[in-house]
Amino acid sequence: MATTTAQGLEVLFTRDQIAERVRQMGEQISNDLAGEKLVMIGVLKGAAPFLADLSRSVTVDATFDFVAVKSYAKGSQTSSGAVKLIKDLDEPIEGKNVLVVEDILDTGLTLAFLRKLFLQHRPKSLRIAALLDKPSRRVEQIDADYVGFSIPNLFVIGYGMDFSERYRNLPDICLMPPDAV
Ligand code: IMP
Repeated sequence: MATTTAQGLEVLFTRDQIAERVRQMGEQISNDLAGEKLVMIGVLKGAAPFLADLSRSVTVDATFDFVAVKSYAKGSQTSSGAVKLIKDLDEPIEGKNVLVVEDILDTGLTLAFLRKLFLQHRPKSLRIAALLDKPSRRVEQIDADYVGFSIPNLFVIGYGMDFSERYRNLPDICLMPPDAV
């Protein structure tokens, strides 16, 4: 039987499952970047909890930066394809190892836009970490170097992910109830 939260939401990944997977991702990133410095770039707002946890699972010397983007939605759960930067990086990334940290890779429009933008700054390396991946939704050809969980076409909330700005503070990743969509 599926686990449900006190609010009656169906849990897809529990906080313990998330913590274990994030720990494994941190280990892999630390191995891949052993001896290097890293700039972790969080995509606001959804990636904030993931970046906070992932950064504490990596053992390399890491700094943080954040960007925010706006994607122009036709409906609340679909994107029109236009992505605009609404908060730029604070520090230059030229010559640095960059890890873009995103909550969920869906159509790929956001990360394709950011990858192109960041590559123009000539980083030493650029990697992507996405906690969730919905490969069946892809519009842009883009893959993450590190994926927490691959999921089917479900709308999820919690651990940073929202529905109309709500539910970001749920500690578990839950399914959005179909009647609320
Ligand atoms: P993409 O540009 O279509 O890859 O979308 C990326 C962004 O869409 C994510 O950073 C989320 O903000 C949002 N998104 C996509 N799927 C979901 C979901 O299931 N729940 C909450 N937000 C989502």
